[in-house]
Amino acid sequence: MPFEITDAGMVFLDLSYLIAAVMFVIGLKMLSRPDKARAGNVWAAAGMLLAMITTLIFHKNAEGQNIAFQNILLVLAVIAVASVMGIVIARRVKMTAMPQLVSLFNATGGIASALVALIESGDPGNNSQMVTLLGMATGSIAFSGSLIAYGKLDGKIRDWLSPLMKYINLSLLLILIAMIVFMLLPMADPGLFKMLVYVLFFFSIVYGITFVMPIGGADMPVVISLLNALTGIAAALAGFIYSNQAMILGGILVGAAGMVLTLLMCRAMNRSLLNVIVGSFGGHTGEGGRQVAGSIREISLSDAGILLNYSQKVVIVPGYGLAAAQAQHICSELDTLLSDRGVDVRYAIHPVAGRMPGHMNVLLAEANVPYEKLVEMDHINPDMPNVDVVIVIGANDVVNPAALDDPSGPIYGMPIILAHAAKNIIVIKRGMGKGYAAIENSLFFNDKTRMLFGHAKEILQKLVTEIKGME
Ligand code: TAP
Repeated sequence: MPFEITDAGMVFLDLSYLIAAVMFVIGLKMLSRPDKARAGNVWAAAGMLLAMITTLIFHKNAEGQNIAFQNILLVLAVIAVASVMGIVIARRVKMTAMPQLVSLFNATGGIASALVALIESGDPGNNSQMVTLLGMATGSIAFSGSLIAYGKLDGKIRDWLSPLMKYINLSLLLILIAMIVFMLLPMADPGLFKMLVYVLFFFSIVYGITFVMPIGGADMPVVISLLNALTGIAAALAGFIYSNQAMILGGILVGAAGMVLTLLMCRAMNRSLLNVIVGSFGGHTGEGGRQVAGSIREISLSDAGILLNYSQKVVIVPGYGLAAAQAQHICSELDTLLSDRGVDVRYAIHPVAGRMPGHMNVLLAEANVPYEKLVEMDHINPDMPNVDVVIVIGANDVVNPAALDDPSGPIYGMPIILAHAAKNIIVIKRGMGKGYAAIENSLFFNDKTRMLFGHAKEILQKLVTEIKGME
């Protein structure tokens, strides 16, 4: 039989989903470069807008009816309110609070997918029941887990490190699996099935909480990325329920990207995903790690200026403090000043410096630091012994030698930038405050280290003025 187009609208709808999926992929690809990331976001958002508009116009239900006009109005009203909320929140949020925002967004994505599944979990025994139940469980876990992650990152919730948690979590996971398997068996009583759906929803929410509670503070980036992947998977499963290709593809892309990022972060910390999930690391507890003895030596602004001005190779190690101080622009000015005087200035980028993946790249791109000057940890480390001065600006854990030589410490095994291998080390920070993992840093007590205490932005401003005054 020759191919026949029965409904041009449906064909157009499928085509628009394909275009949207291509736009998601283009957007995702562009997100991997800081200078293209903003445009990448626009591409992906435009793809989503296209999918939403064509769905509202061309989608048909099983009876072949389009979406009722009043429902379209309702959807548009909800989108309008949510968009205003999104714009206000995104404008207000500080760069350093981005992980919290991502957690909240993950939570909304998770609950949306879970509610879709909850509403659609109709008759027992229907074909898509497995997808529906899995979607509800993953969405609910992503929802409650992300809320706990948000609370922890924001300092509202503390880690819950009881050894019992491992057993509680394992038991809950087994209960969830057993319930899903049981609910897929033929069931005579639809009332019982509906009740079990709510029980499953409840246990999934509880599991999300108990799963994230014991994970140490410094492991939160990995967990957020994992929860992000779960949100994507839940959205894809919700897409299967409605046979909606855009949701399936979008969800799979988020799920796959989140999973790849999770594994890359684990690799950057030299740990397995299982170790991150069951072995608590860091946290805000201030426990763990050895005491460091020795004395701290300071450097004056003029001596620091002279040292930098007459160096050949300078490496800047940016960290969370640079972002918190919003000192990226003045940092870039120092770089330009020194580079114009023939100093080779580069930046050493640690994969988990700051508070979110790519934090330093985004921050420095904002200050127009050329992309080629940002060198990844693995590439810059071998050259560290040849570096005349390394300037550590608001970084702490990512240059802490305890990661290499203190097996009792919570960051042991995490690869670090080998700042201690450079000929001279200048550390800019406000005082002797600890980093995210809340442990002492022997780098500050190193014979080659000089501390330049103060707010990063003010210190860098003074340093620039000092160097400008030199011939
Ligand atoms: P941290 O270890 O957090 O250290 C930052 C340092 O900046 C602090 O010791 C603080 O010392 C200093 N500081 C804060 N405000 C400052 C200011 N205004 N001016 C100057 N210095 C300031 O930072 P890091 O080395 O970037 O390491 C990141 C840590 O966060 C890692 O443990 C990582 O695992 C964790 N983490 C990473 C992410 C991602 S994905 N990047 C997400 C969450 C957590 P003073 O108080 O003495 O000034």
